[in-house]
Amino acid sequence: MMASKAIVVTGAGGVGKTTVAAALGVKAASQGKRTLVLTVDPARRLADALGVELGGRPRRHPELETLSAGMLDSAASWITVARRHADPEVADRLVTNEFFEAATIHFPASQSYAAAEEAIAYIESRKWDLVVIDTPPAAGGIEFFTAPARMSELVGGRLLRLLTGGRIPGRTALFNRGAKPLLRFADQLLGSDLLERVAQFAMDLRTTYDGVSRRSRAIEGHFRRATTLVVTTADPAPLSEAARFFMELPDVASAPKAVIFNRTLPADWVGAAIPPRTPTALADNLRRWEAEAHRQRDARNGFAARFRVPLVTIPWLTEDPTDRHTLEAVVDEASAWPDLW
Ligand SMILES: Nc1ncnc2c1ncn2[C@@H]1O[C@H](COP(=O)(O)OP(=O)(O)O)[C@@H](O)[C@H]1O
Ligand SMILES: [Mg+2]
Repeated sequence: MMASKAIVVTGAGGVGKTTVAAALGVKAASQGKRTLVLTVDPARRLADALGVELGGRPRRHPELETLSAGMLDSAASWITVARRHADPEVADRLVTNEFFEAATIHFPASQSYAAAEEAIAYIESRKWDLVVIDTPPAAGGIEFFTAPARMSELVGGRLLRLLTGGRIPGRTALFNRGAKPLLRFADQLLGSDLLERVAQFAMDLRTTYDGVSRRSRAIEGHFRRATTLVVTTADPAPLSEAARFFMELPDVASAPKAVIFNRTLPADWVGAAIPPRTPTALADNLRRWEAEAHRQRDARNGFAARFRVPLVTIPWLTEDPTDRHTLEAVVDEASAWPDLW
């Protein structure tokens, strides 16, 4: 069997990515596909419905045996990456280095990168026909796809090459300050101890380069073969985030197969007549909802026309879709889906 088929569900925060990923997973599994859903920080009740456990490895659903679900560790980032790609002793030194913490804070792509590495390990394990991947919020959507390139650029990047030379140098070469005016100057300015710690950090980080660049290329390969689905609502902020997937998507991602408008009001509310003698307050309310349905419909149609992309609409349900049956309803009550599995 080839590596599993993968669906990547992305979009702005709060639009329903986790819900849609879970719903597609439940649906595919109920149609007999051996499916793994990888969620990110699901709401409590949703996690319970999927049978996922915090920090645990993917588990088989107690009732739906074709379904497994796991949680991508959204706190995992540099520590995981360092432990995966550096010798244990180097990794220990890296994670306790003070600059390491600064790098964690200032380089959020590491979080997306760590999640992507984890996700593709499951795709490559070939245990499932289909792997549905929810994307981490820190990624803000598109950054999930650019994280591998940014990560390998960082660990093998120019700043580090400047500090450590073309190849990973021995310590003596690095601390041969006479040969490097920049280092000599920094030494006087900052004190040699600080400089030494920076240099140590740079060298240690650099040792992860081979592993990180190899996995980055693998991640990008999986991204290109995956089906990308962009989720949005008709509101301006998520819509402009969704538009970025069509204007700025790096060539490592496949063109989105559909844009999913979630929490959609019924299209037949547009232009609906308000019966005579409807009490004023109620009539006002209905007019407001009619206007909102109208606005949503225009936003949807405008988006689909502008980017020539198939549209899927999911209705605004009256309760949070958090159990198996309401999750299936999310898929069933949507307008036509493209072929996904
Ligand atoms: N179609 C829908 N109708 C009603 N509530 C929804 C719908 N889709 C998602 N929700 C609810 O909206 C909230 C945000 O959804 P979630 O999937 O967590 O978004 P994201 O993962 O993009 O941050 C959750 O409480 C979820 O249950
Ligand atoms: Mg989510």
